[in-house]
Amino acid sequence: MDKIKVEICCGTACYLLGAANLMAVEDEIPESLRDRVEVEARTCLELCEKENLGGAPYVRFNGTEIMAQATSEKVLERIAELAGGDGRDA
Ligand code: FES
Repeated sequence: MDKIKVEICCGTACYLLGAANLMAVEDEIPESLRDRVEVEARTCLELCEKENLGGAPYVRFNGTEIMAQATSEKVLERIAELAGGDGRDA
């Protein structure tokens, strides 16, 4: 199965608006999903210019799906959904 790719924007706008905390998400991924998720820090995804600054911080899933105003909770929730809802440790 392909890995779930999670790109966290660490460009200036996103970083200042919360992405700094988002990198900790990697440590919060349930044990059962760790080997199925790839978390990467990215430079500006250029969404802060195209969309707007109010949407920062941005996270991109699997190269296409954009999450605006990302929080650790929202990112972890989405990872669990993409993994098929079996993301909870038993
Ligand atoms: S800094 Fe994150 S999209 Fe530009």
